[in-house]
Amino acid sequence: MKAVPFFIRAVFACSLLMMFHIVDAQKILQVKTDKPLAKIESTMWGIFFEDINFAADGGLYAEMVKNRSFEFAQPLMGWKQQKSNPYAISTNAGNILILNEGQSANTRIARVTVQTDKGYGITNEGFQGMGVAKGAAYTFSLMARQLEGTTEIRAEVVDSTGNSLGSVTIKPEGTAWKKYNATFTCTATHPKALLNVWFDGKGVLDIDMVSLFPNDTWKNRPGGLRKDLVQLLADMKPGFIRFPGGCIVEGRDLTTRYQWKKTVGDVEQREMLINRWNTEFTHRPAPDYFQTFGLGFFEYFQLAEDLGAEPLPIINCGMACQFNTAEVEPMDQLDPYIQDALDLIEFANGGVDSPWGKVRKQMGHDAPFNLKYVGVGNEQWGPQYIERYKEFSKVLKSKYPAIQIIAAVGPAPAGELFDYASKELKSLKADIVDEHYYNKPEWFLTNASRYDSYDRNGPKIFAGEYAAQSVATVSPKNENNWKCALAEAAFMTGLERNADIVHMASYAPLFAHVDRWQWTPDLIWFDNLHAYGTPNYYVQKLFSNHRGTRVLRLTMQDKAVSGADGIYASAVSDETSGSVIVKIVNSGENAQDVTIQLSGKKKNQGTGTLIVLKGSDSDVNSLEHPTFIHPEQQAIKWKGNDVKAVLAPKSFSVLTIPMR
Ligand code: AHR
Repeated sequence: MKAVPFFIRAVFACSLLMMFHIVDAQKILQVKTDKPLAKIESTMWGIFFEDINFAADGGLYAEMVKNRSFEFAQPLMGWKQQKSNPYAISTNAGNILILNEGQSANTRIARVTVQTDKGYGITNEGFQGMGVAKGAAYTFSLMARQLEGTTEIRAEVVDSTGNSLGSVTIKPEGTAWKKYNATFTCTATHPKALLNVWFDGKGVLDIDMVSLFPNDTWKNRPGGLRKDLVQLLADMKPGFIRFPGGCIVEGRDLTTRYQWKKTVGDVEQREMLINRWNTEFTHRPAPDYFQTFGLGFFEYFQLAEDLGAEPLPIINCGMACQFNTAEVEPMDQLDPYIQDALDLIEFANGGVDSPWGKVRKQMGHDAPFNLKYVGVGNEQWGPQYIERYKEFSKVLKSKYPAIQIIAAVGPAPAGELFDYASKELKSLKADIVDEHYYNKPEWFLTNASRYDSYDRNGPKIFAGEYAAQSVATVSPKNENNWKCALAEAAFMTGLERNADIVHMASYAPLFAHVDRWQWTPDLIWFDNLHAYGTPNYYVQKLFSNHRGTRVLRLTMQDKAVSGADGIYASAVSDETSGSVIVKIVNSGENAQDVTIQLSGKKKNQGTGTLIVLKGSDSDVNSLEHPTFIHPEQQAIKWKGNDVKAVLAPKSFSVLTIPMR
């Protein structure tokens, strides 16, 4: 018989492979349903928020005007004077002078002299433009005082070719400062609109806090947060929100550290600060990145309350970022830092007659925020940290014994700094330590078993910052691809299995503006109008939405399932719904048949729900394809008590099995 040419055989073999999934031999996973192990803390899966990548100003904080109070290093950064516009009758239509009044935290004002009836104005570029939507209402506001003559202020949103999309007029009256606001509706959607502020008439007036907000903010709060971004967070059902970071807590030096007291009270009085991520990386400089603190500590506590998440503030412990200046406050001058921490607890929890509780009440929140955790320092290391931690811990615990303190163990989860801090903190009986992991996806797979043999007599673990890096840590080429997300899912099965010691975990960083980021990867990306969750986001969301209440023992051939045959798995019971939830990662190239044997008195009902995330290593979501990778849910049935499922190649599956 004539031999079939090789290429025909090859084509035939390939077609067979494409017609049928290659399925590896069946795996049996055993779950003991009647012997629940550790409790899963309500804080198990949470959120890490830091103002990096324009996460706050230009992001979650819905203010659309950049440099609204002229306090940037260059007072007119973000603003342009309009002297040659269609109405101008003179090139000397007007001028703007920046005055430093030195009377408040917010020292500068703009003095506008208008010399022509129509034709002088200033334009704000927003954060790479302003996203406006057709039919949506916007509120323009500013502080103003009319010193001479009469002028009307006309706020006008325009598209990139100057067409008006909506406008409103305000007439300032009197020489005393007054806040004015007016609302208008936009007639078209535009992702990169600009705001013109025209001065019609003749006269001299002072202006400050020039602002534009959408009315449709989260919970319709005036001057509030971007609704679509908060919704993505709410959908995660986070157990906690860590805030405000991250290195931003530390500052490049101590003068630029995060000081929570400067972020509360009237928004006009919050002192602006240069954002430390502004020029941190030569690959993504952002000289116009400042912190207005419009999203400050009150708004943070309120957000945590809205989302049913525990607040978890991290406070500066008298140390600046050790990757930058590494400045430390001398030990004998640490008191103001410790006092800041005590006052923060009082601001959150104190009675309304306490000094800081009163500030909270004045801001509109009588009830305490019920703060239970405080992090002392971010990514600190060395003996200088331990010394300072001891002081903080001694004072905080003596005044607030119920507050759980989170201690730092440095920037990496292994090595000399980590070992030193871990040993010291264990002997000091620290409550919780904050471990950070920015590593390649392979590290996450290998370390899915990291906590299986961890010390059970030491502090509890907060996996406080982690993200698989597709290229290298801080590489601008890192992507939020499926390979990384799947590796994180595998790692998270290990965190869940060890929920007796791992009490909290959060991916980092959280947000990035697609045009203005400094750090990648990030959980959620957005532009001025839209946002999408990365594959990593869906992994986080699935874990958090299926948290359960107790860990169950899950084994394959009597061992924890952490990489054998490319499978990683964990199981929990949910005492509220009476279900068993099994999470399984198949990191292999082939589909895998699994049988889940549930032992225990309760039987399942032969039906359940399977939610699957799957893709190829390089798959990503994007603004154009926001849900390219997304969870697919189906009802499944099986016969008998053993649950059978086929795990797709490179997939993460969440199987919910109701029991009775
Ligand atoms: O998440 C970005 C940065 O990574 C954080 O600010 C810091 O804590 C870590 O080094």
